[in-house]
Amino acid sequence: MIVFVGLPGSGKSSVGKVIARRLDMPWVDSDHEIERELGCTIREYFEAKGEHAFRDQEEAALDTLTQRVDTVLSTGGGAVLRSVNRQRLRDRGTVIYLRSSPEALFRRLRHDTKRPLLQVADPLKRLRALYAERDPLYRECAHFVIDTHGSSLSMLVNRIMMQL
Ligand code: S3P
Repeated sequence: MIVFVGLPGSGKSSVGKVIARRLDMPWVDSDHEIERELGCTIREYFEAKGEHAFRDQEEAALDTLTQRVDTVLSTGGGAVLRSVNRQRLRDRGTVIYLRSSPEALFRRLRHDTKRPLLQVADPLKRLRALYAERDPLYRECAHFVIDTHGSSLSMLVNRIMMQL
């Protein structure tokens, strides 16, 4: 199993999809699986039940999904928050952290309305705080860190293929 972790907007889904195609493996996105099971969007679930309830759903989904073999898994940005998730991801897969600066993420996500954690007055400030909190957690969980700065999608894919 190959697992992508990183902040929202770092390319976990777009890169994961292409890597899966290259390796001829199925691709799965934990947020999509959670939405399918819940029957609503993550944003709706967050608003109705709060973040803690979402993290419980996420922990259960990651536990199930990481038991698949020969699969590429793109996780949600908060997948590394719980130590049990970090341990499971690392033990069961090859974990790749797509690192981007908060400023670059902000440029990509400025107009995003899907991500509940970014629906705040100052999303750049929020991204800086998320980066400060999570960068060490992504590093703890990951086997490889790939800096996305200045690389196109195809360049990133080639760099990752060389590491695998
Ligand atoms: C979250 C990131 C989202 C989604 C949820 C929470 C986070 O996934 O899981 O909104 O805590 O960073 P993406 O990283 O795909 O945006």
